[in-house]
Amino acid sequence: MQKLPHPIPYQGSKRSLAPLIAPYIPSDIETWYEPFAGSAAMTLWAANRNAARHYVIGDVLAPIADLWRVIIERPKEASGTYAEIWHGQTTAGEDYFNAVRDVYNETHNPVALLYLIARCVKNAVRFNRTGKFTQSRDKRRLGMQPEKMAKAILGASMLLKGKTEVITGDWRKTLEPAGPADFVYMDPPYLGTTIGRDKRYAEGLQQDLLIAGLADLRERDIRFALSYDGMTGGKEYGPPLPDTLGLNRLLLHAGKSSQATLVGRSEETVESLYLSPGLGEAQTDVIRRQPKAVQESFTL
Ligand SMILES: C[S@@+](CC[C@H](N)C(=O)[O-])C[C@H]1O[C@@H](n2cnc3c(N)ncnc32)[C@H](O)[C@@H]1O
Repeated sequence: MQKLPHPIPYQGSKRSLAPLIAPYIPSDIETWYEPFAGSAAMTLWAANRNAARHYVIGDVLAPIADLWRVIIERPKEASGTYAEIWHGQTTAGEDYFNAVRDVYNETHNPVALLYLIARCVKNAVRFNRTGKFTQSRDKRRLGMQPEKMAKAILGASMLLKGKTEVITGDWRKTLEPAGPADFVYMDPPYLGTTIGRDKRYAEGLQQDLLIAGLADLRERDIRFALSYDGMTGGKEYGPPLPDTLGLNRLLLHAGKSSQATLVGRSEETVESLYLSPGLGEAQTDVIRRQPKAVQESFTL
C-alpha cells in the first residue's frame, strides 16, 4: 500500500484535505471537472476511487496544463527530463536554479517548471505581473528525488491516461460542456481582500466573476464543491459568498498554519467547503479528520 501519487508538490495542494472533502462527493459522476487544477490532488484522489467515467482538468497557467499533458501522456519523457534537470544541480554551481528559472521564463518548458516547483522555497510558486517565475531556491534541500518523482509521474499517468482531457484556460471555458450528470471540484486562488493581488499564481481572480460563474453553474443544475475562504487563528480571509447562491458551507480543519509556526505561534487553519444543494447540509462545527483515518491505498 502506498500514498496516492502526487507528482507536482504544489504548496496549497488539497492532498491532505482530500479525506475531509471525500464524503461530500457523489458516487454517480459522468465527468469530473477540476478547472483550477494546480497539482490536481482531488482529481488524483477521484481517479483512484473510480469516482467518474471521465476527467477534465484545466488551469489558466499554460505551463501547468502542459505539464499535466506530458505527465499523463508521456510519463517516461517527463521523468527523464526531470531527472536530467535535477541531476544537473549536483555538479553545477549555486546559480543553477536561477539558470533553469531563466530558461523556464524564456521557453515555458513544463518540466523545467516542475523542477522549479519542487526546488523552490516551501514549494510556493511566485509569479510577477508579467507571468515570470520569481521564487528563489530552497538552499536546504534539493527537491523531490528523481526516483520518487518517476514513481509519482507514472502513478498519476496510470490513473489518468485514456480518460482525462487537459484544458488550458479560464475555468469558465473549461466548464462550458458540463451538465447535471457531472461534478465540479473547484479550488480557486484566494481573493485576499486586504493583501491585494495573490502572487502565488500567474493569474488572479475577481470575486464578482467567481460569483457570476457559480450562479451560472447553479442555473445549469451542475453539482459542485468549492474550497474557498479560510480562517487562521480566528482571522478570516476572503470575502464570504452571498446567500443568494444557495450553497451549504462546511468548515474543514486544514491543520496548523505554517506561516504562524514560522513566527513561533501555533494557529489552526480552517477552510470553507461550499456545496451545491443535495451534497451535504451546512454546518458551523469545524470538521476534523478522524485520528485513525484509513490511508488511501494505491498500488503501482
Ligand atoms: C489554489 S490553486 C489549486 C490547487 C489545487 N487544488 C491543488 O490540489 O494543487 C489555484 C490554481 O488555479 C489557477 N488559476 C488561477 N486563475 C484561474 C482562472 N481564472 N481559471 C483557471 N485556473 C486559474 C492557478 O494557476 C492555480 O494553479
